Formats: sequence, structure tokens, C-alpha cells
Amino acid sequence: MAEVEDKLKDYEIKKEGEAEILMLKSNAVFFNPVQVHNRDMSIAVLRTFVGKRKEEHEALMNKKNKSHKKGNQIETSAVNGDAALTSQHDEMDVVNEKEPNQATKETEDVSKEATKTPSWKVTRELKPPIVLEALAASGLRSLRYAREVDGLEKVVALDNDKASVEACKRNIKFNGAAAINKVEAHLADARVYMLTHPKEFDVVDLDPYGSPAIFLDSAVQAVADGGLLMCTATDLAVLCGTNGEVCYSKYGSYPVKGKYCHEMALRILLASIESHANRYKRYIVPVLSVFMDFYVRVFVRVFTSASEIKNTPLKLSYIYQCAGCDSFHLQSLGRTVTKNNSVKYAPGIGPVVPQECSDCGKKFNVGGPIWSAPIHDQDWVLSTLTDVRQMKDRYPAYNKITSVLTTVSEELHDFPLFFSLHSISGTVKCTSPSAVMFRSAVINAGYQISSSHVNPLGLKSDAPWDVIWDIMRCWVKNHPIKEQPCDTPGTAILSKSPQLEANFSRAVAALSKAQTKKVKRFLPNPESHWGPKVRAGRTITSKHISLLGAEALNGAINHQDANGAVTDKPAPDTGGTLTDEVNEPSTKRQKTSDDEHIVEPY
Ligand SMILES: C[S@@+](CC[C@H](N)C(=O)[O-])C[C@H]1O[C@@H](n2cnc3c(N)ncnc32)[C@H](O)[C@@H]1O
Ligand SMILES: [Zn+2]
Repeated sequence: MAEVEDKLKDYEIKKEGEAEILMLKSNAVFFNPVQVHNRDMSIAVLRTFVGKRKEEHEALMNKKNKSHKKGNQIETSAVNGDAALTSQHDEMDVVNEKEPNQATKETEDVSKEATKTPSWKVTRELKPPIVLEALAASGLRSLRYAREVDGLEKVVALDNDKASVEACKRNIKFNGAAAINKVEAHLADARVYMLTHPKEFDVVDLDPYGSPAIFLDSAVQAVADGGLLMCTATDLAVLCGTNGEVCYSKYGSYPVKGKYCHEMALRILLASIESHANRYKRYIVPVLSVFMDFYVRVFVRVFTSASEIKNTPLKLSYIYQCAGCDSFHLQSLGRTVTKNNSVKYAPGIGPVVPQECSDCGKKFNVGGPIWSAPIHDQDWVLSTLTDVRQMKDRYPAYNKITSVLTTVSEELHDFPLFFSLHSISGTVKCTSPSAVMFRSAVINAGYQISSSHVNPLGLKSDAPWDVIWDIMRCWVKNHPIKEQPCDTPGTAILSKSPQLEANFSRAVAALSKAQTKKVKRFLPNPESHWGPKVRAGRTITSKHISLLGAEALNGAINHQDANGAVTDKPAPDTGGTLTDEVNEPSTKRQKTSDDEHIVEPY
């Protein structure tokens, strides 16, 4: 007994959800308690995945039974929903990947086979999903998946660090039979392991230090058809444009600086995953993409279809970001032309902007390509939110994840990126209208508008920029500003007469449902000194900034100011740090150094 106590004195017991882990007091193995948000959200999405996968399988079985009863061929529909049906029905995916003539022949062959064999033999039983946590550290996440998510077959936890794998094995034992029977830990380089286990995992979880870039190519190959890839990136300084060239080298996309930078980070990561997937005739369908605390995390399904990957250029866009004002425009990489019932693929037509911004006269910075198709599946978002609400006690970070899912559920999904009401008011140097008034003016002009989960001041809309600026011109008419120098973007914008008469009277839809019900949509920081943590066993140096982003110091010891000096204040503009109240600004606003982030290209 004394011996056991003696051994345990080097450890602390940490409990999160239903898992308990032994943590060496020496910080030899990575553990970040504020990542409970990340782990809870992942558990929530994993539960949705398990449920949806079952539903899809049942639907496919019913379909097959019906067609079998009719003595007919197996149907060949194979876009998302059906082809989504994981490895249990890969015979269907095969049909879908062929050229039309070949596909017909293949269908005939399969249907001959089907008439020979009862349908219950044609399709395999739905096996419970297998999860790979490729970068597992202490194994806490794997243990939580195994203990908290019903219906999983097993969880494989990898790490290339010996101390981490030892800790993980110790923690598996510490969590008893339920964990011992389901979780296995291996010492391996995740990239090699994933490459040598193609399509073997229904779920692959990547949660690296900093950038996931080096793991993407092998991860997209390890996911089973219709499986789920969950991926974190904490290198937000890179993804948000502090080092555009580094971002390009890692993700193949050039970031531009805008208030929407965290949403752009999500879209760059998605574009990068898609690009890796396409190399193997695979493509992704995002189900949830979130910016939380100090990182982005995407949840995407991975499918195989040589024909569907032709649509990838239609899901990607370059961004033209005006260097003078807030206007941005998207340029699609590709388009389709339909002629005589046949669809042809063609490059996008551009440029979609003139040489100089038609609003303020300045030039544009060009960024991208970014993922410009939807980043969430509303059905998944609502199912996840409903499930989480029904299992409130099982989520330690219940408040955080419901607030994020609520704001996500209210986002307009078809309009990439957003603008900030404070920022556009700063551009024309006026007192900002309240969010409700501004939203009303957009709705009254016949357009849609919503908030953004990544920024409490962000507004997404289908209104063109001339309408947005017209609303501000009308606002300034009634709220005059001091005379400004004649060469500013704001002066150029205000020099034009508005083409529409903005109506600021309150529109019914100006408040979100959550606001009406007083549901908190944005929560304050999880704790003081929160943020990413550096690698286990390391002391923090300025080198970690390039690895983890400017927020690296934020999490552990210090914070960095805009000039790179280390201070004890939190870094600005981390999004998600503000409460709903700031969504109703009505103060005079001048541009701050935080707003001066757009680089004049010439
Ligand atoms: C941020 S930690 C993971 C945290 C963990 N997912 C959690 O929720 O607590 C990243 C882990 O990845 C491991 N790692 C880094 N490179 C790796 C590689 N190539 N293969 C396997 N593991 C790796 C590190 O040793 C570290 O333990
Ligand atoms: Zn402009």
C-alpha cells in the first residue's frame, strides 16, 4: 500500500467527463485542460456520426430490400448520402467511380450477382466504428471516446513519444475494464501508421501541436469511405495571415488580412484537406467547422468518387480583399456549362472586380484559394445541438459547446466570410449603428443577414457591397461626421450618393432566435492564462510563437502585444472572448491599430 502511495505521489489525478488520467507532475506528457471544449465538441459530433451512420445504413438496407423485392438492379445513386455509407457498401462506390459506359456494365454485373444472392448477403452487416486518435498524448481523449460514446468498436491511440505512450497505457489500465477492452495504445509515427492502414478507420482524429499540415496526406487515406476526419489547427497566426508565405507553404493557400480571418482559417484548412483528398480520388463534405478559443477544428466526411472530384474547383474561390475599405469579393476557380443535357467543366470567369475598388478606389490584395462551399451541414449541427441539450450532464463544457453550436446553427451557410459592423463604421469614421438597426436596414432592403460564430461583431450577408455602403451613407446623413481628409477610403465612399433609401426601422428577423430567447451566444474566456500549450516537457521560448502562433505565449506564461513585445495582457482579437453585449455597439469608433491590418499592395 505504502509502495502504491509512494508511486502515486509523482502523479496528479485529472478527471474530465467519465475519464480519469494520471498526470506526471513533471509535465512530461501533454495535457491542456481548456481543450475540454475541443474534446466535448468532438464527443458530441462523434455521437452524431454514430447515429447518422446507423440511419444511413438502415436507409440503404431498405432501399436494397425494396429493389431486391422488385427483382431489380441495385441502384447506382452514389452521391453523398448513399455513397456516404462507409466501407460496408463499397460495391456501390465502385459503380459510381467508372465512366458512364463502364458504370452501366458494372451495374449489370453487380445486379446479376444481386439476383443470384439474397440482398442480406450482398451487403455486409454494419460494423461498429473504429476510431483512430493519431496524436493522443496522455490518451485522455481516446479514453473519453471509449467510455462516453456508445457503439464504438475500439479506439486506437497513437503517439510517437515514448513517455506519452507509456502514460496512455497507464491511463487505459487506470480506467478499468471498459477502457482496457476498447482502447489500445501504440508507439508510432502517425503518418506511417495511417499510410499503412488505408481506409481502415471510420473516424480519424488529428489534434496536433500547431499545424496539422504534415498529417493531412496520410489522414485522408486512412479514413473509410463515408468516415469522419476531425482536425484541429492551432497555428492561427499562420492561417490568419501574419505569415502568408508560411501559410502557403503549409496549406497551399495565401491568406489575406480581414476581420473574417478566423473563418478564412477554417476555409483554408478545408481547402487543404480537399486538395490532399483529391489526390486519391476522394473528396470531403464538411459537417461542422468551428473556431473556438485559440484554434480551428473541422469535422469532415471523406468519400471516394472520381466523378465528384471534378466539382472541387466549384467549391473553391480566390478572395479579392480591398486594401482601402472592408469590401471583399470571391472569385470561383471553376464553373460548369450545361449543353444538351451534358455538363462540361470550365475555369471560372474573372476577374470579378475592376482594377480599383468601385467603393473606395484602392487596389485589391488577392488571397486563397479558400473553401467557399458551406462549412457546416445544418442537419448535423441541429442534431448535435439537440443531442447535447438532452445530455447536458455528460458535457463538462456544456455551456461553451451549446453556445458555439447555437451561433453556428444561426449562421447563413451559403455566404462565405463576413464583415464587422465596427470596422465598416471605422472606415467611414462614424458612430456605429446598433447591430439591430443595421441588420434591419439590410433586411428591409431585401437581403439576408446573420451573425457569425467566429466573431460577435461579424455579420454575414448576401447584400452586395454597394448596398452595405449605401446603408452607411444613409446612416451618416443622419449622424454627421467631422470633416475627414479627402484621400481616405471613407471619404471616397461617402462622396457618392446612396442609390437606396435605407430603412432602419426594426425588422422582425433582425434579432436571432437565440437573442430573442436570451440564449448566450458568446462566452467569456475559459480561464485566465488560457490558450495553446507548448510541447510536453518544454519551457516556453519565443520560438514557440512560430509553431503555435502568436497566441502561444498567451496560453502558458505571457502574452504578446501587436509589436511582438511580451506583455501580461491577453492578445487582442481572439474572437469568442466577447459576450453578446458587445454586439450592440453604439459608440464613436475610430480605426485602431487592430483595424489597420490590410496591406496596400502597391
Ligand atoms: C497536442 S498533443 C495531443 C493532445 C491530445 N489529443 C489531447 O486531446 O489531450 C500532440 C501529440 O502529438 C504527438 N505527436 C507529434 N508528432 C507525432 C507523430 N508524427 N506521430 C505520432 N504522434 C505525434 C506528440 O508527442 C503529442 O503528444
Ligand atoms: Zn474599397
